Amino acid sequence: MITRKSKREIEKMQAAGDLLAEIHKEIAKMIKPGITTMEIDAFAEEYMRKHGATPEQKGYQGYKYATCASINDEICHGFPREEKLSDGDIVTVDMVVNLDGGLADSAWTYAVGDVDEKGKRLMDVTKTSLYKGIEQAQVGKRLGDIGHAIQTYAEGEGFSVVRDFTGHGIGPTLHEDPHIPHFGLPNKGLRLKEGMVITIEPMINEGSWHSKMDDNGWTARTVDQGRSAQYEHTIVITKDGPVLTTDQGE
Ligand code: MF3
Ligand code: CO
Repeated sequence: MITRKSKREIEKMQAAGDLLAEIHKEIAKMIKPGITTMEIDAFAEEYMRKHGATPEQKGYQGYKYATCASINDEICHGFPREEKLSDGDIVTVDMVVNLDGGLADSAWTYAVGDVDEKGKRLMDVTKTSLYKGIEQAQVGKRLGDIGHAIQTYAEGEGFSVVRDFTGHGIGPTLHEDPHIPHFGLPNKGLRLKEGMVITIEPMINEGSWHSKMDDNGWTARTVDQGRSAQYEHTIVITKDGPVLTTDQGE
């Protein structure tokens, strides 16, 4: 069932988004070779709790951490760990803030120290692909328009779009209808309406888009060990255009 959110719900989701954006901006300052994703996870959880929020991912379907931390060839749902990040790694930190029942979901890929040119380009193209998708998140446009904008851009830059994970509706619960694919055909699929709240979260790979699941049942990684990047915002569809609740002001 696809729901449209009330003004009150959207206000709460915006407050959660503001907090989440602050956390990402803090993490950006912390990321450097030698830090562990477990330290980042602890920081994010503490920051949420200090501000009266809770980490929605912790306990979600048995997931144990406040954040997902996906390094290099990990596509998504990597576990935070005690291993130090190395110079040249890329790491995607994904989290969901629950503030007074309002949810916000945002992932960001960070460069650890000096990342090679291809890695930087992968990050750049992935972030730009997110904003190309967001441009299409307009009342009256269709889901295929979002996916098509992301796919044509990312593939045109020589990268591939992960098929096995999509964006989603979000509201009182983390994963709501509809699925938001990051690939597709223009003018196809569900039509967007005012008050819908969705995530757009393209995962873009430097090699093949195919993924495989780790034995832990959570972590997806590329089959060819190529790197994967991801940027995600929570977006309200309004008659004045898309509103990013998780905007970091960049
Ligand atoms: N934030 C993720 C998403 O975009 C959710 C990760 S699954 C969880 O869908 F169990 F870790 F929460
Ligand atoms: Co997310």
